[in-house]
Amino acid sequence: MTREHWGSRLGFILAAAGSAVGLGNVWKFPYLVGQNGGAAFVVTYLVLVLTIGATGMLAEMAIGRAAQRNPVGAFAALKGGFWPVTGYLGVICGFLILGFYSVIGGWTIAYTVKMLDGTLTAPGLDFAGIFSGFVADPLEPLLYHAVFMALTIGVVLKGVAAGIERWNKILMPSLLVLLVVLILRAVTLDGAMAGVEFYLRPDFSKINADVVLAALSQAFFSLSIGMGAMITYGSYLTRDQNLPRSTVMVVGLDTGVAILAGLIVMPAVFAFGVAPGAGPGLTFITLPGVFQQMPGGMLFGAAFFLLLLFAALTSSVSLLEVPVAYLIDELKVSRRTAVLVLGGIAFLIGIPSSLSLGIWAEFKLFGLPFLDLLDFITSKLIMPVGGLLMCLFAGWVVWPVMRREATNDGTARFLLLPVWNWLLKVVAPAAIAWILIQGLIG
Ligand code: PHE
Repeated sequence: MTREHWGSRLGFILAAAGSAVGLGNVWKFPYLVGQNGGAAFVVTYLVLVLTIGATGMLAEMAIGRAAQRNPVGAFAALKGGFWPVTGYLGVICGFLILGFYSVIGGWTIAYTVKMLDGTLTAPGLDFAGIFSGFVADPLEPLLYHAVFMALTIGVVLKGVAAGIERWNKILMPSLLVLLVVLILRAVTLDGAMAGVEFYLRPDFSKINADVVLAALSQAFFSLSIGMGAMITYGSYLTRDQNLPRSTVMVVGLDTGVAILAGLIVMPAVFAFGVAPGAGPGLTFITLPGVFQQMPGGMLFGAAFFLLLLFAALTSSVSLLEVPVAYLIDELKVSRRTAVLVLGGIAFLIGIPSSLSLGIWAEFKLFGLPFLDLLDFITSKLIMPVGGLLMCLFAGWVVWPVMRREATNDGTARFLLLPVWNWLLKVVAPAAIAWILIQGLIG
């Protein structure tokens, strides 16, 4: 059976950017900024993305394209020994992330509906109360979670090239246009400037070990690296793609969207007097308030949550594709069986995730509700550790292969090749190890 491939070079860029740009950018990044000291977090995040993040992204694409296999098979094909463990970690991680990502994906559907049916557009609403009531409900969020998972399954069933590329070509530019419109509205709200200042003027005394670990784990999560998503997408590439250039585009798009999303949420947070450290509800509480103030807010609001839904969907599709590719390549299962079985299990994991925000809130493991536990294990443990192993592997074990991939067998120039090598071998692993240790014990 021949391996599926992307239909065009742009198709890969958009699919990879679609994986990267998701809830991490629009939902998670702004609330992490709010919880971790504002602009100081933004600066820390940018430094980590441009060094460790870009380094890891290029390594994953190169590993995937060289091996033409899923993450487990890729490490086995390129070296074997202990290394496939890194791939297994990724396959499991994709699954666990999907188990809470889909719940939040469901919220975006719910909010699109609630915008249109008037639940969120009447004057004088208590958006914080509406949000906490909704997520704590034992049934409603589960129904939306089921719909979101069904959509994810539907797209992944169609395979690599058929659905994803076309969706992204329409949805990514629309998302950008809407972001710009919403920023213009948010920064012109009364009292918005305090938010802009909090967001853009760093107070470096706020940086500590927790902040740096939060920024590192967000960099991995947002760029979709450390768990094999970019290995998997890279494995559907042909030889003509320039990998360093693709890395610059995907990292640039992802970071740009995160920064722009913060520019919408932070001014609105301050303008409406919401606490910036409010946590996961931040976006869902503040943005409806912004839409309420806009002419045509109902339509803008519905469009915004719809686009957030599509951004989430193109990411969840990549999360599911990682374990699916593993089953197809290694266990010779049909795509259909792999997608249905894995999607079904991920749906089941989502149930306790969702209930942990309501009726099961008291039930904690390691002191955390189930959803927060999944988030912690994946983005603060598995992804940084996976990224660390990946960098060591690329820099020390298969460097000749990496050099070949990054220069397309010596035909393309990559001026930063020595810098990349040094980042892979020493800087990224040392920095990740240090941040992990400091952040986890500190
Ligand atoms: N990058 C996605 C986001 O920011 C999440 C994701 C993580 C997707 C890992 C795939 C793999 O929402």
